[in-house]
Amino acid sequence: MQATGVYVMNFLPRPAEGKPGVERIPWYHRNVDYDEIAFYHGGSVFGVDMPAGLIGHAPQGLHHGIPERARERARRRHDEDKRVEWKVIAIDTRRRLTATPVMSNAVQADVAEEVRV
Ligand SMILES: [Fe+2]
Repeated sequence: MQATGVYVMNFLPRPAEGKPGVERIPWYHRNVDYDEIAFYHGGSVFGVDMPAGLIGHAPQGLHHGIPERARERARRRHDEDKRVEWKVIAIDTRRRLTATPVMSNAVQADVAEEVRV
């Protein structure tokens, strides 16, 4: 789906790149013109469960992606994994996004909870 300055994409389970030597996800990249929201709602990628309910925000121009160790894992498991089982909704916006006070408070409470654990 799309509207002026907004794109909504649904990343669903699919076959993994199968040709040896082809780089598999996750790619490290930078969205020059768009803020990016990724809502993870289940599935797994190369043997790692996706954190259901996690929302990530990558502001325009910020390099982002999954750490190099995840890419190395994808290469290592090339013959083992034939599918990418992720379930992610991504929203790209031309205008910059700002967190509401409710969102900021939720993030701070979540971080405080992680620190206590
Ligand atoms: Fe991105």
